[in-house]
Amino acid sequence: MSNLTTTYAGLNLASPIIAASSGLSETLENVIELSKSGVGAIVLKSIFEEEILMEMEQVKQDMVGRPYIFPETMDYMEEEPHEDLIRKYLGLIEESKKAVSIPIIASINCVSNQKWTYLAAEIEKAGADAIELNIFNLPSHSEMPAAEIEQMYTELIEKVVKMVKIPVTIKISHYFTALGQMIKTFAKTGVKGIVLFNRYYSPDIDIEKEEISSSFVLSEHSDVAMPLRWIGLMSGSVKTSFAATTGVHDGESVVKLLLAGASAVQVASVIYKNGLHVVKEMNQYVLEWMKKKNYASINDFKGKLNYKEANNPASWERVQFMKEFRHFVK
Ligand SMILES: Cc1cc2nc3c(=O)[nH]c(=O)nc-3n(C[C@H](O)[C@H](O)[C@H](O)COP(=O)(O)O)c2cc1C
Repeated sequence: MSNLTTTYAGLNLASPIIAASSGLSETLENVIELSKSGVGAIVLKSIFEEEILMEMEQVKQDMVGRPYIFPETMDYMEEEPHEDLIRKYLGLIEESKKAVSIPIIASINCVSNQKWTYLAAEIEKAGADAIELNIFNLPSHSEMPAAEIEQMYTELIEKVVKMVKIPVTIKISHYFTALGQMIKTFAKTGVKGIVLFNRYYSPDIDIEKEEISSSFVLSEHSDVAMPLRWIGLMSGSVKTSFAATTGVHDGESVVKLLLAGASAVQVASVIYKNGLHVVKEMNQYVLEWMKKKNYASINDFKGKLNYKEANNPASWERVQFMKEFRHFVK
């Protein structure tokens, strides 16, 4: 009998398909619906550092000039602000944990290691099974060297890892000068999982209005090539578990990513496009493929084709279109 159980970031999941952080996991109702769809875990919509800091600032400003506010109170507000946004987020974790039996992963979208990091401990207290740090700083400031940006990332991760006992994972972009080396460095910080790669809001240009607009929000199936390559390249040599995100739209992609060494995948766009029933179809596809191949568990084939295990690992490194593709040019 084949089964879909997998271990990702130390969490035991009944399916390798995780609901990625998005508007689909922003309310308790959605969390309950997602859990019924057959996903193995849910990453809640991120709480954003900039929102937390803005709210802290607002509360501080509201207090300015009030004679009965002691300076220590202001310090307390900085260290432990209990504003609405945070209260609401912690409430969503608590209620989700009561309502569903699958793991709930909280998500913090952060760009710096400022004072918000205490929030990780609050999230743990609220009952989250893990914390996913969605760290991203668009490296557009040409005066900041790569090493400085990379150090900022590792310091932040280490700070959060030290603060909690639950697993911490990170979701990153591919905007690193030496991506392979960075993934190895991140794995040494104590994170239990690395999610490759986040998808970001991208600007576009409306040529009629001659204005900056927003581009497509949802991914395309072909986008899966990027996480597939990097999980294939890294999973055999880096001691952490990997989850793939961006462009995972069907069961076939899930099988490919597991063969490349992913322990799980995270999906959002395909649910936005086609509805929750796709999760069941994807689970079914993987299960049937496993039965056809006589695999009893995901561990039997996970990473079978990664860089370390494959017969022709150089295929993972090939980047140029050489003679194989000449027939496309006529
Ligand atoms: C509408 C929307 C909202 C999202 N919000 C978040 C978020 O708050 N935090 C986060 O880490 N990722 C967020 N993401 C990224 C997804 O979690 C996911 O990693 C990304 O969309 C790639 O997966 P996909 O190709 O299945 O969509 C969002 C994606 C979409 C489409």
